[in-house]
Amino acid sequence: MGVLIWVFSAILEATLLSSLSLALTPDGTALLEFKSSLNDTKNILSSWKDSDESPCDWTGVSCNPHDQTVRSINLPYMELGGVISPSIGKLSRLQRLSLHQNSLHGVIPNEITNCSELRALFLRSNYLQGGIPSDIGNLSSLTILDLSSNSLKGAIPSSLGRLTRLRSLNLSANFLSGEIPDMGVLSTFGNESFIGNLDLCGRQLNKPCRTSLGFPAVLPHAESDEAAVPTKQSSHYIKGILIAVMSIMGLLLIVLLVFLWIWFLSKKEKAVKKYTEVKKQVYQENCTKLITFHGDLPYSSSEIIEKLESLLMRRMLWDPGGFGTVYRMVMNDCGTFRR
Ligand SMILES: *[C@@H]1O[C@H](CO)[C@@H](O)[C@H](O)[C@H]1NC(C)=O
Ligand SMILES: *[C@@H]1O[C@H](CO)[C@@H](O)[C@H](O)[C@H]1NC(C)=O
Ligand SMILES: *[C@@H]1O[C@H](CO)[C@@H](O)[C@H](O)[C@H]1NC(C)=O
Ligand SMILES: *[C@@H]1O[C@H](CO)[C@@H](O)[C@H](O)[C@H]1NC(C)=O
Ligand SMILES: *[C@@H]1O[C@H](CO)[C@@H](O)[C@H](O)[C@H]1NC(C)=O
Repeated sequence: MGVLIWVFSAILEATLLSSLSLALTPDGTALLEFKSSLNDTKNILSSWKDSDESPCDWTGVSCNPHDQTVRSINLPYMELGGVISPSIGKLSRLQRLSLHQNSLHGVIPNEITNCSELRALFLRSNYLQGGIPSDIGNLSSLTILDLSSNSLKGAIPSSLGRLTRLRSLNLSANFLSGEIPDMGVLSTFGNESFIGNLDLCGRQLNKPCRTSLGFPAVLPHAESDEAAVPTKQSSHYIKGILIAVMSIMGLLLIVLLVFLWIWFLSKKEKAVKKYTEVKKQVYQENCTKLITFHGDLPYSSSEIIEKLESLLMRRMLWDPGGFGTVYRMVMNDCGTFRR
C-alpha cells in the first residue's frame, strides 16, 4: 500500500515537473511570434523551438545573464523576408536589434518604442515602408539608429531630437520628406545622415525649405502663420465694406420707393382736388346744367361713374330742382357717360 502511494506521487511529481520545464519564458513566446511573421527561406531559425525552456541558446539570440530575458537579436544578412511583428514590443529588456541586409518589408511597428532599454537599432538595407514611428523619442537609451536604404516615407518625427544619447544616425536613401527638425540632438548631425531622400530640406542639408509660394521659409511656422493673417483680415475688410455699401444702397432704394409712393399718393390727392375743382366749374344755362369734366383724371371711366353716381345723389338731395342737369364726359379710355 505504502509503495503504491509512493509510486503514484512520483508519477504525479514527474508530470508536474516536465510540464513546468516545457513552459517557454514569455520572451521566448514573444520571439516565436516574431518568427511566425518572418519568411525564413534558409531555415536559419530552425533552432527556435517552442519545446525549449529558454530562448537563450537560439540562433542570433542572447540573454541577460541573470533573468533569462532577451538582450539582443542579431540576424543580419540572413535573407529573411516577411514583416517585423509588433510582438517585438514585448521584449522589454531588448538592447540591440540587428536585422540589416535582409528582405523585410512592411512597417516598423510603433510597438518597438516599448523596448525602453533599446540602445542600437539596425534596420539598414531592407524594404521597410511607412513612416518612422512617431514615439521613437521614447527610446531614451538609443545610441545608434540606422534606418538607411529602405523605402521609408513621411517626415522625420521631431521626437527624435529628444534622444540625447544618440551618437550615430543614418536615415539616408529613403523617401523621407519635409523639413528636418532643427532641435535637440537632431541639430548635431550633418548631411551624411540625411542624404539620398526624396524631398528633405533644412539646415542640416544646407537646403532651405521653400514655402508653397516658392519663397525660402525664413520665418518659423508660428510667424509665417501670423504673416498670413493680414491678407485674411484685408479680405474680411473688403467683405465688410461691400456689405455696408450694399446695405446702404438697399436702404436708399427703400427710401426712394417710399418717396415715390408718397409722391404718387399726393399726386392722386391733387388729382382728386382737381376733380372736385372741376366739379365746381358748373355753369348754369337757365334750367339746364352742363357739367364738363376736363383735365387729366387719373381714374378709369367706371370709377368716375361711381363717383358721379354719388355726386348725383347728393345734388338731388340738396337741390331738388336740379332736373335737367346733363353730365357729359368723354374719357381717354373711350368710355362715354351721359346722364
Ligand atoms: C517566402 O520567400 C520566398 C522566396 O523569396 C517566396 O517564394 C515565398 O512566396 C515567400 N513566402 C511568403 C509566405 O511570403
Ligand atoms: C509594453 O511593455 C509592457 C511591459 O514593459 C507590457 O506589459 C506591454 O504588453 C507592452 N506593450 C506592447 C504593445 O508590447
Ligand atoms: C511614449 O511616451 C508617451 C509620453 O510619455 C506615452 O504617452 C506613450 O504611450 C509612449 N508610447 C509607447 C509606445 O510607449
Ligand atoms: C548611411 O547609409 C548609407 C546607405 O546605407 C551609407 O552609404 C552611408 O555611408 C551611411 N552614412 C553614415 C554616416 O553612416
Ligand atoms: C556635406 O557637407 C560637407 C560639409 O559639411 C560638404 O563638404 C559636402 O560636400 C556635403 N555633401 C553633400 C552631398 O552635400
